Amino acid sequence: MAGIKHLKDLQNTEYSLKKIFEEAEDFLPLNGTDYVELYVGNAKQTAHFYKTAFGFQSEAYAGLETGMKDRVSYVLRQDKIRLVLTTPLKQDGEINEHINVHGDAVKVVALWVDDSTKAFEETTKRGAKPYLKPTKEEDENGYVIRSGIYTYGETVHVFVERKNYKGLFLPGFRKWESHYNPEPVGLKFIDHMVGNVGWNEMREWCEFYGKVMGFAQIISFTDDDISTDFTALMSKVMSNGNGRVKFPINEPAKGKKKSQIEEYLDFNNGPGVQHIAVATDDIVATVSAMRDRGVDFLYVPEEYYDDLLDRVGEIDEDVEVLKKHGILIDRDEEGYLLQIFTKTIVDRPTMFFEVIQRKGAQSFGVGNFKALFEAIEREQASRGTL
Ligand code: FE2
Repeated sequence: MAGIKHLKDLQNTEYSLKKIFEEAEDFLPLNGTDYVELYVGNAKQTAHFYKTAFGFQSEAYAGLETGMKDRVSYVLRQDKIRLVLTTPLKQDGEINEHINVHGDAVKVVALWVDDSTKAFEETTKRGAKPYLKPTKEEDENGYVIRSGIYTYGETVHVFVERKNYKGLFLPGFRKWESHYNPEPVGLKFIDHMVGNVGWNEMREWCEFYGKVMGFAQIISFTDDDISTDFTALMSKVMSNGNGRVKFPINEPAKGKKKSQIEEYLDFNNGPGVQHIAVATDDIVATVSAMRDRGVDFLYVPEEYYDDLLDRVGEIDEDVEVLKKHGILIDRDEEGYLLQIFTKTIVDRPTMFFEVIQRKGAQSFGVGNFKALFEAIEREQASRGTL
């Protein structure tokens, strides 16, 4: 629990917090996450899945009909969360290669900035590997400037400057009209996105977020905090200055058997985004809607709930209802949080989603890690990859 105590210390010491975040505010101000783009084998069908199962809404489209010759992209939205699904239309090329190596996976974690050119200059000056030089794209709605840098694996951060743009998404996209519009399930915004990196690489990538992007480390877990009998990992949480963008970084640790992080690294062929945590105001309603629409969540053993109230104290929710859905609860000094994890949502055992509802707590559910990992190990065992 050392990590959480550290967070508490930070929050109690306004001056040091300010000091830590001062430089972040200075050189890379972020307004939040702009979009997350996945390279997938079949964007049309994947879009249908995210609409049906996750309640995303059709927003924008680009493809042959809009003059895009080599790929299609579907843009989906739910409140502040924007997903872009992209599939190549021709053989070979960078996107095909990405899908071949990683399967359906996150390529771009785009960040919303006021000045994309400055974001590119400040980060590359500090050592970031360039992905996209500042590029202006224009149509009748104005212009957008995007630039980008590499982070872990083949994942990139694209800095999106859209203050001079009134269109739906980006130039080249048009409104995606659909007669099939399932209701949203109450997902509001991206709470955090987790990256898995290789053995002994966590420090390097935390330093990258610290030095190159001006993030501060807010929490750290060692394998003592979160190992089970079989598997272990280490994790640090990096946050930008205003706390709107949080990137936990995981690295495998030695256990008796293969850890879930190693399984991810094997099937993703290297580092990448492990999970996207999306926030809701009503986790019971959100999760029951998602279950009804076919989303599979990790199973949590009933015993988890036996001593729950002793561990977390009083909560507003009915424990029986949480138990029915397999929702986990953890408390820190600020309050508590409720969270649940989907099973992997692509064919390879790589990427999954977390649904989270915060009731004061600003931490990441360390008290649940053990229960969670045991649930993941049951899945690994059924795949023969433990
Ligand atoms: Fe998470």
